[in-house]
Amino acid sequence: MLFAALFLMQSALPPQIQRGQVLFMDASKGCASCHALKGQGTAVGPDLKMAASLAPRAIVTMMRSTLTSYVQTVKLKNGDTFPAMPGAKDGTAVTFYDLSKMPPAPRKTEQAEVDSMRNNETWKHPPLTRGYTPAEMADIIAYVKYAGTGDKKKVDPDDVE
Ligand code: HEC
Repeated sequence: MLFAALFLMQSALPPQIQRGQVLFMDASKGCASCHALKGQGTAVGPDLKMAASLAPRAIVTMMRSTLTSYVQTVKLKNGDTFPAMPGAKDGTAVTFYDLSKMPPAPRKTEQAEVDSMRNNETWKHPPLTRGYTPAEMADIIAYVKYAGTGDKKKVDPDDVE
């Protein structure tokens, strides 16, 4: 019964949002290995709720940005250096999501083991290089807007080129 109801809700969604959801959730090439929306996916990167409320063109600009504001290059005292999203702190330990791994791997480290943290210059946001077509980009953004705000409006591929 519950499944039937969920299925009906799902099939009532506009086809563009359904296509966008498939692209978003794709295990190897999607977004859900780093972003959580509607309770699905892993919250490595920032929550997309804020971005979802913006115009499609602003969202695509964020997705294609070559500058990062959260990601750091972490260097440990043992010499290990990796691009990371700083995560939860727990007493004297901190968890970093190691973005050199796909999917990003949580890595718990004592704060005292961290040699330095500086602005990332090497890690690139994956959607930059995945070669999505404008139509696919529009589908993904339609899903992000729907999942983040409930907005079911169509996104025109011309608006996200
Ligand atoms: C490998 C992990 C990873 C994947 C895959 C990924 N992202 Fe991200 N994303 C991040 C990280 C980390 C940031 C934060 C970058 C920074 O430091 O500014 C981010 C930032 C963003 C932002 C800006 C959010 C804000 O508030 O600043 C948007 C929008 C976004 N991602 C959407 C997507 C979409 C849509 C996809 C799939 C097509 C995707 N991302 C795939 C990790 C990822």
